[in-house]
Amino acid sequence: MEASKENVLFCCVASFICLWTTAYGELTPAGVNYEVEALMGIKNSLVDPHNVLNWDEHAVDPCSWAMVTCSTDNFVTSLGAPSQRLSGTLSPSIGNLTNLQSLLLQDNDISGHIPSELGRLPKLKTIDLSSNNFSGQIPGALSNLNSLQYLRLNNNSLDGAIPASFVNMTQLNFLDLSYNDLSIPVPPVHAKTFNIVGNPLICGTEHGCAGTTPVPQSLALNYSQSNCLSRLLQSDQLNSSLNFFCSKSCCCCASLLLSFLLQSFCF
Ligand SMILES: *[C@@H]1O[C@H](CO)[C@@H](O)[C@H](O)[C@H]1NC(C)=O
Ligand SMILES: *[C@@H]1O[C@H](CO)[C@@H](O)[C@H](O)[C@H]1NC(C)=O
Ligand SMILES: *[C@@H]1O[C@H](CO)[C@@H](O)[C@H](O)[C@H]1NC(C)=O
Ligand SMILES: *[C@@H]1O[C@H](CO)[C@@H](O)[C@H](O)[C@H]1NC(C)=O
Ligand SMILES: *[C@@H]1O[C@H](CO)[C@@H](O)[C@H](O)[C@H]1NC(C)=O
Ligand SMILES: *[C@@H]1O[C@H](CO)[C@@H](O)[C@H](O)[C@H]1NC(C)=O
Repeated sequence: MEASKENVLFCCVASFICLWTTAYGELTPAGVNYEVEALMGIKNSLVDPHNVLNWDEHAVDPCSWAMVTCSTDNFVTSLGAPSQRLSGTLSPSIGNLTNLQSLLLQDNDISGHIPSELGRLPKLKTIDLSSNNFSGQIPGALSNLNSLQYLRLNNNSLDGAIPASFVNMTQLNFLDLSYNDLSIPVPPVHAKTFNIVGNPLICGTEHGCAGTTPVPQSLALNYSQSNCLSRLLQSDQLNSSLNFFCSKSCCCCASLLLSFLLQSFCF
C-alpha cells in the first residue's frame, strides 16, 4: 500500500513537471515564443519586396501568420512562400523550428549557403529550394533527416560533390539536383526518382546525363534491387574479391562471382 501511494505521488509530481515544461517550453526567457523569434530571424535575413512576410513580431504565436501553418498544438509545421521574389539569405535560425515538416521556398532569388541547421529538424518530410540562387555545397547534415522523402535543390548554383552520407537516406523517394554545378563522385543514392542532368562536371557539357554509368542505376533498377546493389558495390569484401580475381586476369570469374552474389543477396 505504502509503495503504491508513493508511486501515485511520484506520478503526479512527474506529470505536473511534464505539463509545466510543455506549457512554458515554447517561451524564451524573455517570454517570446521561440518560433516567433526563429521566424523573425528568417524574415530579417530575407529581402521581401512585396511584403508578403508582414508578420507581427509581438504575436503570441505565429500560427495566424501568412505563409505559416501550425499543428493543432500550435507548433509551426510548414513554411511556404514560393514565387514571391524573395532574395537575401536563408537564416540558420530555421534550425529552431523543431516541428517543421515542410519547407517550400522554390522559385525565388535567395542566395548564400543552404543552412546546415536544416539537419536538426527530424520531422522534415519535404524541402523545395529549387529555382533560387543558393551556392556552396549541399550540407551533409541533410542526411540526418530520417523523415525526408522529397528534396528539390535543382536550378541553383550549388557546387562540390553530393555528400557521400546521402547513401544512408533510404526513405528519400525523390531527389532533384539538376541544373547546378555539382561534381563527381556521385554516391549511389536510393531515391526512386533521382535527377542530376544539367551539372556539367558530372554530365559533360552536352545536355543530359543519359549514358553516364554511376547514376542511372537507381533509375534503371527497381527500388529493392538498387538498394541491394549499392550495398554490394560499397562492400569491401566484394572489392577485394574483385581485385583478387582481376589480378589473376580472370575477370570472367569476377563477373560470375558478381552475378552469384547478386542472386544470393538480392533475390
Ligand atoms: C535558437 O534558439 C535559441 C534559444 O531561444 C537561441 O539561443 C539561438 O540563438 C537560436 N538559434 C538560432 C540559429 O537562431
Ligand atoms: C547569384 O549569386 C551570385 C553570387 O553568389 C551573383 O553574382 C549572381 O548575380 C546571382 N544571380 C542572380 C540571378 O541573382
Ligand atoms: C532549370 O534550368 C533549365 C536550364 O536553364 C531550364 O530549362 C528549366 O526550365 C529550369 N527548371 C525550372 C524548374 O526552373
Ligand atoms: C551511414 O550510416 C552508418 C551508420 O550510421 C555510418 O557508419 C556510415 O558512416 C554512414 N555512411 C556514410 C557514407 O556517411
Ligand atoms: C522489384 O524487385 C522485386 C524483387 O526482385 C520484385 O519482387 C518486384 O516485383 C519488382 N518490382 C517491380 C516494380 O519491378
Ligand atoms: C577497392 O580496391 C582498390 C585497390 O585495392 C582501392 O584502390 C579502392 O580504394 C577500393 N575501393 C573501395 C570502395 O574500397
